[in-house]
Formats: sequence, C-alpha cells, structure tokens
Amino acid sequence: MRLTILGGGGFRVPLVYGALLRDRAEGRVTHVALHDLDRARLAAVAHVLADQAAGVPDAPAVSVTTDLDDALRGADFVFSAIRVGGLEGRAADERVALAEGVLGQETVGAGGIAYGLRTVPVAVDIARRVARLAPDAWVINFTNPAGLVTEAMSRHLGERVIGICDSPVGLGRRVARALGVADPARARLDYTGLNHLGWLRGVYADDEPGRNLLPALFDDERALTSFEEGRLFGAEWLRSLGSVPNEYLHYYYFNRETVTAYREAKQTRGAFLRDQQARFYDDMADRTSASGALAAWDRTRAEREATYMAENREAAGAGERAADDLESGGYEYVALALMRAIARDERATLILNVRSRGTLPLLDDAAVVEVPCRVDAAGAHPLAVSPLTGHEAGLVAAVKAVERCVLQAGESGSARAAVKAFALHPLVDSVTVARRLLDGYRSAHPGLAYLKSGAR
Ligand code: G6P
Ligand code: MN
Repeated sequence: MRLTILGGGGFRVPLVYGALLRDRAEGRVTHVALHDLDRARLAAVAHVLADQAAGVPDAPAVSVTTDLDDALRGADFVFSAIRVGGLEGRAADERVALAEGVLGQETVGAGGIAYGLRTVPVAVDIARRVARLAPDAWVINFTNPAGLVTEAMSRHLGERVIGICDSPVGLGRRVARALGVADPARARLDYTGLNHLGWLRGVYADDEPGRNLLPALFDDERALTSFEEGRLFGAEWLRSLGSVPNEYLHYYYFNRETVTAYREAKQTRGAFLRDQQARFYDDMADRTSASGALAAWDRTRAEREATYMAENREAAGAGERAADDLESGGYEYVALALMRAIARDERATLILNVRSRGTLPLLDDAAVVEVPCRVDAAGAHPLAVSPLTGHEAGLVAAVKAVERCVLQAGESGSARAAVKAFALHPLVDSVTVARRLLDGYRSAHPGLAYLKSGAR
C-alpha cells in the first residue's frame, strides 16, 4: 500500500512514520512518498526517517519528490499536512491581528481566517489533481484550519476526504481518565461541533452504555481540575457550561485574557516555532549521516509539546503542563486507525471532520463538522450525537458562516467576501477592523494577491 504525504518535509512526519513502523499487520503501508516544495526540508526529514528505520525489518520504503503529480499517481492514501506561507506566514498572521487588538491564532479568529484564505486555493488545486490522478485514493487532511480546508476539498472529492485533529481524542482520554473509566479508549464520547470548536457532553463506558458518566465529574472538584481543560477553564465555568469544551474554546471564553497574554508574550507561538524549527532544519542540513537525527528531532518535539498553549495556561494560572497532558492526543494514531479501518474494513469509531449529512440539523448536509464516526471500507459515517444547546448552536452557526465566506473568497477571489469573513467572526468586534485586517494581511502575504475588490 502506498501513502503519499503532502508537506513531506514537515516536522511532524516522523510521528506518522513511527506509527507506520510499529504497524506489523497484513496490508500495511509499504511505501511512503514524501512531497514538498522545499528540497532541504525533504532531505532533513528523510534523515530522521532513515535513523528511525535503522534496524527495523521491512520498514516502509521512503521516496521524496518535489513534483506533486508524480507524488499523487498510484497513491492509495494521501495525507495532506501542508503549511502555505510557512511558519513565517503563521507569525505574520499573529502580528497583523495583534496590531488590531484581536486574536491571531492559526485556526481561531482573524489568524485562522487569514490562514484559511491563503490555504483554500492551494487545497482546492490539490483536490482537483487527486480527483484526476488518483481518483480512488482517500485523502486524510491534517492541514489547518482543518475543518474549513476539509470542506474546501470535499467540494471536489466528496466523502473521499476526511479531516483529522487530535484534540478531541486527547480531551476524551483525559476526561475518561479523570472519571476513572477502566478502558478510556473504548468509552463512547458524545462530542460535537466544528474543528477546534466542539464540546464533550457525555461519556459512556463500554460496560454501561446507558449511563452518562460526565455529570459526576462536575461534583468532584479535584477530578475536575486534574486535567488540562479543567485547569484552563476552571471548575466553576465547566459547571456553568455542563460540558467540557475543546481547549481552543479558551480563546472564545477568555478572549480578552488570551489576547493580552499573546500581546505581552516575549514571542507569539508562530514566531517561537519559526525560530525553533529553523534551528532544527539548519542542524539537519549540517549533518552528513542520519545517526543522531532522530534524537535531535525528538528533543525539538518535546520542547514544542511542552510549550503548547503556554500563553493560555499562563492567562489561566494553570501552571506547567502535566505529564499526562504532555502525551499528545496522538494524531498519528488517529491517522493510522482511520487508514486501517478503511483499507482493511476493520470497523472503528473515531472523531473526524466529515460532511454533516443531517448529524447537526442546524447546518446543511455538505457542511463539514467534527463528530464521532463509524469507519469501514466505505469511509466515515457520522454517528448520532445529542442536540447542540442554544449557546453551542449559536457559535457553530456563526463560525460556519465565517468559513463559508472564506470558501467563497477562496473560490471567487472576492475581497468583499474576505472582509465579510473577518467582520462576521465573533472574535472580531467591528467591520472597520475587518477591513483593516484584510489590508494588513494583503500587505503581509503575497499569497493573498488573488483577492480582488471587483470580484464577487
Ligand atoms: C494540536 C492541534 C493541531 C495543531 C497542534 C500543534 O494538536 O489540534 O491542530 O496543529 O496542536 O500546535 P503547535 O502550536 O505546536 O503548532
Ligand atoms: Mn487540530
């Protein structure tokens, strides 16, 4: 089986390759084709993968290319994990937004819109090529903003594109542990919303499928503050909500504090990662052999994970990340589990970004939502979830309307639609600010030159 990774020079590729190396089952991936625009980054990642594969019998073969069509031909699965504009672009997304006093996070608020505007045309081009060159391939999208980008691609690939994120899995696992569920991996999670905008409303243990265990958590102060989301949001606010929100909702519920923390930080997340990653890639470029590459990569990864959402934790007084929380949600395992379920028709239940098809009745069937899905050889089928509360429905509808404006702008080149996207976002407080944001982003990103005032 052949897996193509777009963004193959990306820092998280060794996570995926590591999961493939541990997969010994029949029908596993035997060839990984890495595609990237940047040869040096491809060479760096290839060094790490070679070090990882040392001594592993039958390790999947790795090839590298800068030709997209070559990479796509013959693929059974395509993982898309690209970053249009690079980390420099991410840092600019933050800077322009903060200059206007609003949030510039890569997936939430103005920053997410700017990143979406840059990424949608590229993702659409990829989707069209996949439809032409590898029509039977399944596309697994990691590219952020993941829900929006998956929806853009689904207009060309239908249900053959599935978006993934590790944050709902991590949240579910942490909450199930705090509840003392014997087998957290088998618990049924009533989680729903959009990517980075979802809520966990119920947890059902395997051996007692009829009883929602989550309400008991709100009565237990110690358990409630024993995990990352509990410390970020605080026990009292979680009790008010009666659900556990995805960590990215911290940017909504504590917007003023997170914007201030970002403003006061020595460096924004994007700027920190830009510098940290540049050091890593420079180090790889200086090496003549693969030996030691994996250890260097792993040190960089550990530092990246330890500092994840540091400003939010500081704003919340949540302290350092706990050892349990440091364990990533395991996005590589979500990707692998998804691929295995499809390739081998092994039924699995995973929280994924797919077309709603009636799951969230407030949205149309083609709207991409993040919900638990049953996966088999025919793809991912959303499962029923309990209805959204009024508050949840309000946010989901507002943010989906913003995403639709980004998609319209991406497809038509309309600057007016782009301004509307910024202006309608709940975390942007004025149409005037929205206009200035688009101007600021257009000066910062050559990739936004396609947006024209005359276009509809
Ligand atoms: C979480 C999110 C991802 C994001 C990742 C890395 O896992 O769900 O969407 O890409 O964190 O964040 P970072 O700030 O390290 O790039
Ligand atoms: Mn994510």
